[in-house]
Amino acid sequence: MITKELITELKHKGNSDIADLVKNQHDVGTINFILESLGQLPINFESKFLYDLLGHQHAQVRLNAVKNIGKLNGNTNILILLELYKKEKDTSVRREIISSIGRQRKAENKPLLFNFLEDEDPKIVCQAIRGLLVFDKDNDVEEHLKPLINHPNEMVRTVIYKEYFAKENQSVGVLPHTETYDFLKNTIVNADVLKALKFVPDESVHLTFTSPPYYNARDYSIYPSYQAYLEFLEEVFKATHRITKEGRFLIVNTSPIIIPRVSRSHSSKRYGIPFDLHPYLVKNGWEFIDDIIWLKPEASVKNRIGGFMQHRKPLGYKPNCVTEYLMVYRKATEKLLDWNIRNYDFQTVENSKVADGYENTNVWKIDPCFDKVHSAIFPVELCKRVIQYYSYKGDLVFDPFGGSGTVGKTAKALDRFFFLTEQELKYFEYMQSKSKPQELFNEQQTKFLTLEQFKEISK
Ligand SMILES: C[S@@+](CC[C@H](N)C(=O)[O-])C[C@H]1O[C@@H](n2cnc3c(N)ncnc32)[C@H](O)[C@@H]1O
Repeated sequence: MITKELITELKHKGNSDIADLVKNQHDVGTINFILESLGQLPINFESKFLYDLLGHQHAQVRLNAVKNIGKLNGNTNILILLELYKKEKDTSVRREIISSIGRQRKAENKPLLFNFLEDEDPKIVCQAIRGLLVFDKDNDVEEHLKPLINHPNEMVRTVIYKEYFAKENQSVGVLPHTETYDFLKNTIVNADVLKALKFVPDESVHLTFTSPPYYNARDYSIYPSYQAYLEFLEEVFKATHRITKEGRFLIVNTSPIIIPRVSRSHSSKRYGIPFDLHPYLVKNGWEFIDDIIWLKPEASVKNRIGGFMQHRKPLGYKPNCVTEYLMVYRKATEKLLDWNIRNYDFQTVENSKVADGYENTNVWKIDPCFDKVHSAIFPVELCKRVIQYYSYKGDLVFDPFGGSGTVGKTAKALDRFFFLTEQELKYFEYMQSKSKPQELFNEQQTKFLTLEQFKEISK
């Protein structure tokens, strides 16, 4: 039986034992197993059989052969690899060839790698870039790579941006990552969000979780047209982007809505808000991360299936809509999440760790919540999950469409600060009426402010 131990033993013998073993195999799976088990190759490794395998009819075998050829400690025959590259149809094998050449780290290979920058496959271009970036502070390399900031492919642009341009664009004069301004902490402003945000400094918010007003679905959300509605939200999330700290999250709760028909001779109209909003967010620097489905019990939603239940005629199918979306975005940055996390001290990270019982999947089964004053409030459980999974203790959580203040209340209960804006006086006063006196004694007591007052304290 061929085992990993046997392969390791034969590999170190320094003669053609491995080659013979491979030659005697007719089963592709076994050949691949041997090639994948080779690991590090000794200096005196007999490699001819690997080059012979470059002509094998199975792409996976060719791929594994190239991988091993790339490990030959500088003895790789580049010309043979290039020959294969010219005729190879399989993209994985082509990419591996470039990767193998790059891993040689030989200055004489630079012109070859420059040529691969022209390849149509962006992954090949990225492999060539990786191979070239090992030549630190090399003018020739920089001259070839910097112009790729205008490459049509976004992955290529991102790599080049991170390497050559990110440092130049670092924000100046912003607070340390974990900190924010005292005047924003536990503050609720009774104003149009766009007006209030004019007084909020750049990069002051750690997390935004919100449910925007639905397009003409309720009395507080009247817009002249759907386009105007989307453009209003675009402005809000553009401003939110400015005040969000580098690499932090925005979570938007929306769902498609239906505008009832005007009369029996018209049909009702459905608007796919999450899908239509998405391009505006991405365009303005929000990187799409996840879509979480909020699943509600069927009994809690409007019954649309009734008609179909009676007639059963195809095309007239209208399912009961038991889901809403939580679209998760991150303020685009070349920095990894690890960078964000490393900004927090050990104790804060420990204290913020999410306890057992967290949700494993992107389907969150949560009952909706009903309120006597506000008709569209978040369930506390939904806020709890978002705040716990996407922020640290001491962070500032923002809700531009504060409503009844669920985000604020939950943020506070989870030892975060909150900042809310709410334009309707009746909801602002509702939040005020719910704020218990005993909540007001601590140093970060909730501040209920008009736009004017907010403007004053922001100075
Ligand atoms: C869907 S509700 C949010 C409810 C909230 N998530 C809660 O748990 O109570 C949207 C809220 O946005 C408010 N709103 C609408 N347009 C606004 C604007 N331009 N600025 C600030 N608030 C606005 C509405 O008055 C409404 O209370």
